Amino acid sequence: MLSEKIEKALNDQIRIEAESSQIYLAMACWAEAKGLEGVAGFMYDQSQEERDHMLKLVKFVNERGGHAQISALKAPDITFNSFKDMFEMLFKHEVFVSQSINELVHIALEERDYATHNFLQWYVSEQIEEEAMARSILDKINLIGDDKGGLYLFDRDIQQITVTTASAESPE
Ligand SMILES: [Fe+2]
Ligand SMILES: [Fe+2]
Repeated sequence: MLSEKIEKALNDQIRIEAESSQIYLAMACWAEAKGLEGVAGFMYDQSQEERDHMLKLVKFVNERGGHAQISALKAPDITFNSFKDMFEMLFKHEVFVSQSINELVHIALEERDYATHNFLQWYVSEQIEEEAMARSILDKINLIGDDKGGLYLFDRDIQQITVTTASAESPE
């Protein structure tokens, strides 16, 4: 059984993953409207991944005798005015999610809930990967600067970049 405290904390994380999915979906739309098809495709994939993170938590809460809560979501804040700003926002958001996962791990230990602690290790590794990917994309964007040709190539190659990064990091 889940304690009330851990169930609430897991439900908060369910909302955060759902909001992440919304944020990346909004970014996909922004990029698609700007004709950046590669970037849009990347953001659609990220949005789907966040939904999968949410579902994994939903199933876990329900399997452990809790009740997963599906709550109202905030509208994403689309205030960036360049694709560089957008990726900076993505990076900051992933750092925020990592902090939230760390807090959740801390609560699991406090509650002596070792099953939840074990389950959360997947999220700990996932966040390391996502932060690393966001950081390597930002490095590439900084190299491109204002070069239009560079942006064209970046948009063409972004999905390849992330596929390569992911396969280099996870051997499965
Ligand atoms: Fe996530
Ligand atoms: Fe993420």
